[in-house]
Formats: sequence, C-alpha cells, structure tokens
Amino acid sequence: MDYYVMTLFPEMIENCLSESVIGRAAKNGIISINAVNIRDYSKDRHLHVDDYPYGGGAGMVMQPDPVYDCYSDIVSKAGKARRVIYLTPQGRKFTQAEAEAFSKEDSLIFLCGHYEGVDERVLEEIVTDNISIGDYVLTGGELPVMVMIDAISRLIPGVLGKMESAEYDSFQDGLLEYPQYTRPEEFHGKKVPEVLLSGHHGNIAKWRRLESIRRTYERRPDLLNDPAVLESFTREEREFLKELSEKDQ
Ligand code: ADE
Repeated sequence: MDYYVMTLFPEMIENCLSESVIGRAAKNGIISINAVNIRDYSKDRHLHVDDYPYGGGAGMVMQPDPVYDCYSDIVSKAGKARRVIYLTPQGRKFTQAEAEAFSKEDSLIFLCGHYEGVDERVLEEIVTDNISIGDYVLTGGELPVMVMIDAISRLIPGVLGKMESAEYDSFQDGLLEYPQYTRPEEFHGKKVPEVLLSGHHGNIAKWRRLESIRRTYERRPDLLNDPAVLESFTREEREFLKELSEKDQ
C-alpha cells in the first residue's frame, strides 16, 4: 500500500507514523507513507495557499490551484489512485468496515484541509470519498488521516506480527472484544475466570464469545441492531442475549 498525504504539515504525518507498528511496516516496505507539502505548489511570492472567502465571513479558504497541482504531481509520479479521500466532518463516518475496504487498495491519496475549508471546485474535481472520523470538529485533517492510516494498515497482511493478530479484534465480527487477563492469577483479591485456566479450548472459545456479547450489550447495544450480527448467533447465544435483556427489565 502506498499512501500519499497532501498536507500543509507534512512533519506531523512523518513524525507520528514513523514509530511503532506502522513505522516498522514502512521500514519493511509493506507500506509507504508519502507526505506532500501543498505549500510547495504555491505560485505566490509569499507561498500563500489560502485567501478570503467570496461572500465574506470568518476565516480563510484553501485555494484550488496549489491543491490541484499537488494532486497532479502525485498522479504523474505515482499513477492514479482509485480513491482520493478528503477528511471532513461532513463526510460519512469511518468504521472498521470502511477500513477493511480501503485496505484492499494498492494506493490511497488523502487531502487534509485547514482553515475554514478548501475551495469547493477542486474538491469536486479530485475527491472520491468524503470521510469523517466522528461528530466533532478538529483543526485539520492530519489527525484523522493518521487515525485512518493506522486502522487500515493493521489489516494489511504482514503489518501485524502473529502475536498482534487482528482476527479477534473488536468489530471484526460486529461485536466488542471479550475481556483479557494475564498473570498474576489473583490481583487485589480478583481471580482470573476459572475457564481460562482450564486449557479446554472449546470452553474458552464459547466463554469468550458470550463475554463479547455481554460486553457489546452493556457498552454498545446499538451494534446489536445489525441483523447480520444477530443472524451469526447460535441458539445458545440468542438465549444468552435474551437473558441479559430480561435481567434489565
Ligand atoms: N476535519 C476536521 N474535523 C474532522 C473530523 N471529525 N473528521 C475528519 N476530518 C476532520
């Protein structure tokens, strides 16, 4: 996967994503992260890339030319990407399912906005996906891009080590992950659930599945409205969910 990030703050992207799991994947050549400075495409003597909004109002708007020239340069060097993502609170919400779909691409181009936004005409011309990471407003698209690159990259084969498998993650099966325990066997008087010490893989898998359902019911009941999730339940799991909700009545 080759990522291209159009930004006014390339060092934010480079510094953050050169560490830890994502940094290791980049060093190993599984992914490449290319932060491209939009300011390098300013034709202005003072390297301005923004101007006052037509019609008045507060703030500044990023001009279309530097953004378009930055995009064209990326395309001329790297080829076209199928998807060009603009980070905006007006976008559809980024989810695990979106991360999975994006992880199948060979390359992705991101555009980070700043100030009051980006001139609409260049967005119309180059953007294929408007994406938001949540219903709150950030000062720019850099943090959202880093969130997306992290979530997407860890789904690409070879990025996570065997020990860090994504198989049982929260959301992988539409449920939250079950609780985890490690040594010591007793902490502040609390014991590790007996079944986890039993070595019985079948019972452990069953317990974890039920605890996933319990946790999802308690913390994110909205996830249980997805018919596909409910259809994946065994009869016993359905019974368990019914008991949970009856206890609440
Ligand atoms: N830019 C500013 N706020 C944002 C958000 N919540 N998601 C994506 N991009 C943004």
